[in-house]
Order: sequence, then C-alpha cells, then structure tokens
Amino acid sequence: KDDLIVLGIETSCDDTAAAVVRGSGEILSQVVSSQADLLVQYGGVAPKMAEEAHSQAIDPVVQEALDKANLTERDLSAVAVTIGPGLSLCLRVGVQKARNIASRFNLPVVGVHHMEAHALVARLIERELQFPFLALLISGGHNLLVLAHNLGQYTQLGTTIDDAIGEAFDKTAKWLSLDLRRSGGPAVEKLALEGDSQAVKFSTPMKQHKDCNFSYAGLKTQVRLAIESRNIDATIPISSASSQDRNSRADIAASFQRVAVLHLEERCQRAIEWALKIEPSIKHLVVSGGVASNKYVRARLDQVVRKNSLQLVCPPPSLCTDNGVMVAWTGIEHFCVGRYDPPPSVIEPEDFV
Ligand code: KG4
Ligand code: ZN
Repeated sequence: KDDLIVLGIETSCDDTAAAVVRGSGEILSQVVSSQADLLVQYGGVAPKMAEEAHSQAIDPVVQEALDKANLTERDLSAVAVTIGPGLSLCLRVGVQKARNIASRFNLPVVGVHHMEAHALVARLIERELQFPFLALLISGGHNLLVLAHNLGQYTQLGTTIDDAIGEAFDKTAKWLSLDLRRSGGPAVEKLALEGDSQAVKFSTPMKQHKDCNFSYAGLKTQVRLAIESRNIDATIPISSASSQDRNSRADIAASFQRVAVLHLEERCQRAIEWALKIEPSIKHLVVSGGVASNKYVRARLDQVVRKNSLQLVCPPPSLCTDNGVMVAWTGIEHFCVGRYDPPPSVIEPEDFV
C-alpha cells in the first residue's frame, strides 16, 4: 500500500484542485486554484462561469501537481476524482481530465464522493483514527452527521433540511459587505473577533426538534432582518464604513457566529449520545469541511467532545476546505480494498461517470 502513488482531482464547486499522495499518507504535492475573483464579481458561484474557470485551470493545475511531486503520469498507480455531489457542469471537467489521463497511461480510476473525502482525510492526518468514528461535515453545500462504521459503511444521523452553515456564513458576509476575496466564512470569523456575540438576540434553530438535523435558512433571515433594522448601509464596503457602523456589523457577525455554532454544538451532543448507543467503541469526532477551518467552531466543538471523553480530529484548514489531497487519499483507501474502475479504453466526450 505504501508504494501507491495516486493523483486526486477535485472540481465539484468553485476550486480546481489536484494533489499527489502516497499510500503511506505522504503528501507529495497540493495545488488549489480558486475562483475567488469570480465570486466577488458575481456574489456567488455561477455554474457556467465556474465550468469555464475549471476548464481553463484543470490542465495547469494537474501539471503543477505532478511537477511539484517531481513525477509524470507514468509514475502514477491510479487517478482519483470527485464524482459528486456538486455542480454537474463542474464535476465533468474533473472527470473528463481523470479519464483522459487514465486511458492514455492505462491507469485505474477511483470515483470519490466529495463528503466521504472530507471525512476520510482525517485518517490521513490522524493515524490513530480507526473505524468506527463519528463525523460532522460542515461545508458550503452540506451539513452532515455521519456514523462511519467502516470504509463505505455509513449511517447518516443528521443532515441539513435547508441551507448549510457555510451558505449562512457566505450570505452574512455578503450582506455585511465584507471583503469576499477569500470565501465569506473567514471574513465573518475575522470581523466577529471585534464584536459582542451577545449583542443581537438570534434564536437557535430547531430547538424543539429533538433530532440531529440542521437548519440555517431561518438564521439567515434573522441576520438579514437585523441588518435592515439597524439601518446598516450595506452598499458601503466594510472598509469604508463609519466606526459605529463597523461596530454594528461586528456585533451581528459575532452574534450570528455564536448561534450558528451553538446549533452545531447541540446537534453534536445529541449525535454523540446516539452514536455511542449504536457503536459504544467510538473514540473520535471528526470535524471537517470548509467551515471546520473556523477557530471558534473548533474550540467550541472541542469542549463538547471533551465533555463526552472523546477526542476531536480536525484536519488543518488547507485540508478542511476543498482540496485534492482528500480525494487522492479517499482514492487510496478504496483502491486498497479493490474498489476502482479499470482504465477507460476509449475517450468519449460525453462518456462520464
Ligand atoms: O468544503 P468547502 O471548501 O466547499 C464545499 O464543499 O462547499 O466549504 C466551503 C465553505 C464556504 O461556505 C466558506 O465560507 C466556508 O466553507 N468557510 C468558513 C471558513 N472557511 C471556509 N466558514 C466559516 N469560517 C471559516 N474560517
Ligand atoms: Zn467541500
């Protein structure tokens, strides 16, 4: 297993990413090309634009990943690629590239589930992490609480019934006219440091639902109403706002973040109780996905985990946000148990996984 060398390709949303990882877990290279400029221009991901940007970025990104690893395609053991969930126009750019390389160099292809990759990358950074474990996956499109019994065997304990937490962070950033050069989440996290998290009384979502599901649509609306009622002129970028206006925005950011994360804390506490009944031997809670790079999120969830005598495993930020390493690593895990497709023989433009 240690000798395997796998290329991972990720194009499910707004980042074009590739990485080369060894079966031993050594990361040989990691490249991410972000579409942040487009996000600023359009205030969100526009699928057609994103597809175009992926198409332009994919060849150089993959080439750079191989160059940085000092390898060529001939050195690879397999190609892993995200096949879903995500924007189909975007996914197919990555899948097409993977199949191209695989057919030219006679390599097996491993199709990877994006959310499984967010969870399994934790096993690359924490070698002690054995199945079964509990995972909270928090990203722009999904919130999931999953009990991972074994590779490929997962029980979903909770999911989002409307918007994911990352979407709520992104909209809050947009409505507060924060600097969106990176994604919205980090901008809200930074501004929240200046604010009073008790200043705005947002209510915690789904208090009355004693389950492990998530809802952020209502909190989003509460944020929008709070901005309107405080007469914040959100057409003015935060960098030009008066200090009073800036303070109001910081209070909203801090209060939003506190309640958004409180919802995660409550759901995780319940999920731990449920999970321990099903799999009493679990020792870890994995927290991954873009929002898991937030320091406040990590600190609060660490408290929950400790209270339950479990351990938190949270990948470093570069492996929490979308990346090629998690895809390559998940490819390695599946490849090792024989789950892969043989090299595609002919390349058909419309022949996608
Ligand atoms: O996993 P990811 O990179 O892409 C998806 O699969 O969606 O997650 C992206 C999400 C975005 O909504 C982004 O705003 C959020 O993760 N995010 C953060 C932080 N960094 C990224 N949210 C809160 N705080 C952060 N520091
Ligand atoms: Zn993701």
